[in-house]
Formats: sequence, structure tokens, C-alpha cells
Amino acid sequence: MWGKILGMSLVLAALLVACSEGRAVRGGFVGTRGSQFVVNGRPFYFNGFNSYWLMYMASDPSTRVKVSDTFVQAAKYGMNVARTWAFSDGGYRALQTAPGSYNEDMFKGLDFVVSEAKKHGIYLILSLVNNWEGFGGKKQYVQWARERGQYLNNEDEFFTNPIVKNYYKNHIKAVLNRVNTITGVAYKDDPTIFAWELMNEPRCQSDLSGKPIQDWVAEMSSYLKSMDKNHLLEIGMEGFYGESMPEKKQNNPGYEVGTDFIANNRIPQIDFATIHLYPDQWVSGSNDEAQNEFVEKWIQAHINDSKSIIRKPLVVSEFGKSSRSSGYTVEARDRYFGLIFNRVYGCARRRGPCGGALFWQVMAEGMENWSDGYEVVLEQSPTTVGVINQQSRRISSLNQ
Ligand SMILES: *[C@@H]1O[C@H](CO)[C@@H](O)[C@H](O)[C@H]1NC(C)=O
Ligand SMILES: *[C@@H]1O[C@H](CO)[C@@H](O)[C@H](O)[C@H]1NC(C)=O
Repeated sequence: MWGKILGMSLVLAALLVACSEGRAVRGGFVGTRGSQFVVNGRPFYFNGFNSYWLMYMASDPSTRVKVSDTFVQAAKYGMNVARTWAFSDGGYRALQTAPGSYNEDMFKGLDFVVSEAKKHGIYLILSLVNNWEGFGGKKQYVQWARERGQYLNNEDEFFTNPIVKNYYKNHIKAVLNRVNTITGVAYKDDPTIFAWELMNEPRCQSDLSGKPIQDWVAEMSSYLKSMDKNHLLEIGMEGFYGESMPEKKQNNPGYEVGTDFIANNRIPQIDFATIHLYPDQWVSGSNDEAQNEFVEKWIQAHINDSKSIIRKPLVVSEFGKSSRSSGYTVEARDRYFGLIFNRVYGCARRRGPCGGALFWQVMAEGMENWSDGYEVVLEQSPTTVGVINQQSRRISSLNQ
């Protein structure tokens, strides 16, 4: 009897969960169900790219067309997710010029990015701060606090100093509550945004216990979710393992960075896990064979853990091949993209946790001085585009 009542209430609870999920995705927001992404209640598998420069180019009317052209091309090759920066802190043409002060021209640039993405059916993953110095990052936040009389030892105090944490929370608040001047929709209500990302590649090498990043992710994810229950949230991690399951550290490329793939992603407000993949930088000096072996193991270990331990979806949110790496050819890049795509597609086809992969990175024509070696100029890369297009077609066929 009690068992029956318990059973009934479990069914009811499941129905309630299903209904609330239905409500959340009715407007086309990306959601999750177990370790899968869903849109409008159906599975959502995707293929996409990174382009960190979109806001910058969109903020100048004379270069805006690069953003539109990029989305047109991407959509043509079946790509439907783009990851980009919703930050640029201090320095030349910054979005945030000083703590809490914003350059309206740059924000209008970001408005344009969101509105063009929507127009071309491309979801955006928006990252909120950088671990690295590019476009300001944690170093700039720490510098701002120092200029206002705070004593900080090093830039990793970004994760712990109360003044700096408040600056960052204010940035979250400013971006989420921004009302798009083109669409009239607040960012936090816009289903074009697939997910927020707390930080591009958080690392805290000055404290390998993992405590600063664990506490920071817990605090910031609660803060963000208190303001926005529509959108998914991810951390921006590269995937390094840490102290919570020390036996998993054997998968790291020989060092740790103060993150903990398992513990960080288990925080309830975090909706999905991410990994980045740079064997050329992480295991440099090793030959192709050793690097490929690392790649296979890195992907498989994180698939296993996302499925069995974290129980959330996984996105390969950055991978690429630099034209500056030794032995580079376009064919080698295409083979490498093909290898990653095969693993991600294979995992998705078996209904594993992989949602999709985002390569680093698309650049528009005429951006030669922005080159970082990893760029794919779609108009000039017919063979790479062929590999990308094939992945888009087969992975989206799983959405039926
Ligand atoms: C992943 O899990 C499979 C199946 O349990 C196992 O055979 C494989 O060794 C695991 N791989 C890694 C890298 O953990
Ligand atoms: C590239 O060149 C353009 C025009 O000369 C300039 O406005 C822009 O700042 C440069 N970008 C970088 C990253 O150097």
C-alpha cells in the first residue's frame, strides 16, 4: 500500500518535472534531460564554432558585415551554435571601461551579434570573463581593485577577493539584464542564447587544492541562476582533473591547473560540462602519435565521467589545429577535425552525453592581422568546410 502511494507520488513528481521542463523550453530555450540537450522537448545535437571577435567587429558599422557574413556562411554549412566573448574589460575599445561602466557602442555591437545570430538560427554560448589577459580578464579585475586601494598578492585572488567578486557579479548583472537595442528582448529572456559561460578556461595555479575555483563556481553559479532560470550555465573548463578523485589525474597532460572536472561540474547550478583540447600546446614536444593517443583518452575519459559520475551533457567547446604547429598541412587539419567529429558523433549516436563540438575558430576574410594560427577562413577552406558540413548533416539527423 505504502509502496503503491510512494509509486504514485513518484509518477506525479515525474509528471511535474516533465511539465516544468515543457514550460522552460516552450520558447525554444535549450534545456537538458539527463545527459542530453533538448529543445522543445526533443533531443538537440549540434555542430558549431568559436569566434571571439564578433562583438568587436559588430561595434564598428564599417566592419559589421563580417559578423553577418560569418553567420550566413556558418548556417550554410549546417552550423547552429557559436561561442563568443560577452566581455572585454579595460583597454582599447573595451565593453567594460571601468568597474560597472560600459561603452554603449560595444554593447550595441553585442546586440547586433545576438540579433544576427537569431536571424540565422544560430544559438550563442556567451562567456563572461577571461582567465587570460586577452580583452582584460582576471588580471584587469585585480588591477581595478588595486587602483582602489585593495591589497592583492596575485591575479588568482580574482576568485577570492570580495571586492573583485562584486565587480564580476555586477558584470553578470549588466549583461543578463541588457535589453537588446535591436530586438527589444532582454538577454536573460532571449532563447538565442544557448548558455552562459562563467569564464574562459579558469585556472588557479597558485592553489592546486582546487578550493578557490570550487567555491567561486558555487557562488557565481548561484548568483547567476538567481537572476536567470531560463538559460543553461557552464563553467568554461578545459577539463583538467583535480583532488576529488585523484586517480583520475592520470588523464591530465602531466600537470594540474586548480580545477576539478568532477567536483566543479557536480555543482547543481552547472548544467553541462565542457572540455577543450590542445594537444599541441599541452603535450608539446611529443610526436603526432602521442598527441593522438592523448586526444582519444582525453575525450573518452570525459565522456565516461559525464555519463556515469556527473550525469550531465558534455560539449567539446574548443579544439583546433594551428598552422604554426610542426608538420602542419590543411590535410592534417582536416584529418584532425574528422577524428574529433567521429568521436563526438559516435558518442551522440549511441545517445551518450556528447551534444556537439565547437572548433577554434572561424575568422572572416580580411582579418589577417588577427591570425592566431588556428583560424579557419570558411571562404578559403573548401576541404575543411567539407568535413564540417558532413558533421553538421549527420549529427543534426539525430534530432529527428
Ligand atoms: C571508458 O569506459 C569504458 C567502458 O566502461 C572503458 O572500457 C574505458 O577504459 C574507459 N576509458 C577511459 C579513458 O576512462
Ligand atoms: C588590424 O588592423 C585594423 C586596420 O588596420 C585595425 O583597426 C585593428 O585594430 C587591427 N587588429 C589587430 C588585432 O591588430
